[in-house]
Amino acid sequence: MPTAATARLVSLSNAHPQAAPVFLAARRYNNMSSPKVEDTNGRHMLRMITFGKPGSGKGTLTARLVKKYDVTTLSSGDLLRRHINQRTEVGQEAEAIVAAGGFVPDDVMLRVVSSELDGLSGQHWILDGFPRTPGQAELLDVHLKKHSMPLTLIVNLDVPDDVLLSRISDRWVHLPSGRVYNLSYNPPRVPGYDDVTGEPLTKRPDDNPEVFARRLARFYAETAPILDYYANQASIASSPPRNPNLHPHQLSFPLSGPPTIKMRTLAGSTSDEIWPQLDGLIRGGFPALRERADTLEMKEKRRRHSLSEAVFAGELGSNAHVKDESVD
Ligand code: AP5
Ligand code: MG
Repeated sequence: MPTAATARLVSLSNAHPQAAPVFLAARRYNNMSSPKVEDTNGRHMLRMITFGKPGSGKGTLTARLVKKYDVTTLSSGDLLRRHINQRTEVGQEAEAIVAAGGFVPDDVMLRVVSSELDGLSGQHWILDGFPRTPGQAELLDVHLKKHSMPLTLIVNLDVPDDVLLSRISDRWVHLPSGRVYNLSYNPPRVPGYDDVTGEPLTKRPDDNPEVFARRLARFYAETAPILDYYANQASIASSPPRNPNLHPHQLSFPLSGPPTIKMRTLAGSTSDEIWPQLDGLIRGGFPALRERADTLEMKEKRRRHSLSEAVFAGELGSNAHVKDESVD
């Protein structure tokens, strides 16, 4: 069961419906030199953690970002499921742990994630589901310091507990790709089959009420404190005194200069509430992150389509408006 303190950490939406950005002050990765947060052209790199309870939409929203922007994602859960499927050594160790809603040991997880992460140097990336314990957060820090690629954004998805279980019961996944569907929210075009490959969808073995309850309890006990871990870094490094009336995760710390880690809690129960906040945050904070060419092309097609419709409607004497709709 969540303690009052940890419940407070992850239920920010009730206390702070309008979550404001928190700018965590500079992290000291190296005593002598500042960590790199920009590439050689001076642009900010997106190196992000998607943080949230099981079922909060980490996978779904990250996939939307990947579809829209030129960014790569690593989901620790998907990596483990792939290992399990391929019967690797890690997979054999992880299988029973994952099915029971437990946590795979920190050092194993670091190995699994870092072996993939190291190939992403110089790219924008998002970690989904890692780190998941303060121990993993520390291991990740050390690893990223060694590779001079510090984190630049932490997004905490805050979805009420009562919404989560129904989402999980309705979830179907395409195991090889990690694509996620929901019977009511984003159903596959053909029921039971993946939109892209046409292969059958499956249920995850840990998507049942008992295991889900265990995953949620574990989240409160072991994962939620990570938010404090990052906020603590800020309180050590930030010079101005904090306002004691505000929650630390909702404060903005004035910064003396780059580099910074932004941390933002996005609260909501539906995609309509969370996606625009997330998209705005990425667009506003990381202008160097390019939209994918096909996204831009589709946008242009829509714009032209709207334009021709407007012209056509105009000829018929109607008051049509041309609107540039953004593509998800
Ligand atoms: P993992 O796969 O990471 O599971 P999790 O953290 O429990 O998160 P989920 O994948 O269940 O939820 P999600 O937030 O991605 O939600 P989703 O987008 O799918 O890990 C599985 C297991 O692996 C762990 O239990 C552990 O054993 C092990 N493991 C993994 N990482 C580890 C680590 N670092 N250390 C140790 N062990 C580790 O959405 C859920 C549903 O909601 C979907 O049906 C979706 O369509 C729907 N939905 C999503 N967003 C919305 C929305 N905005 N509105 C309406 N419906 C939505
Ligand atoms: Mg997921």
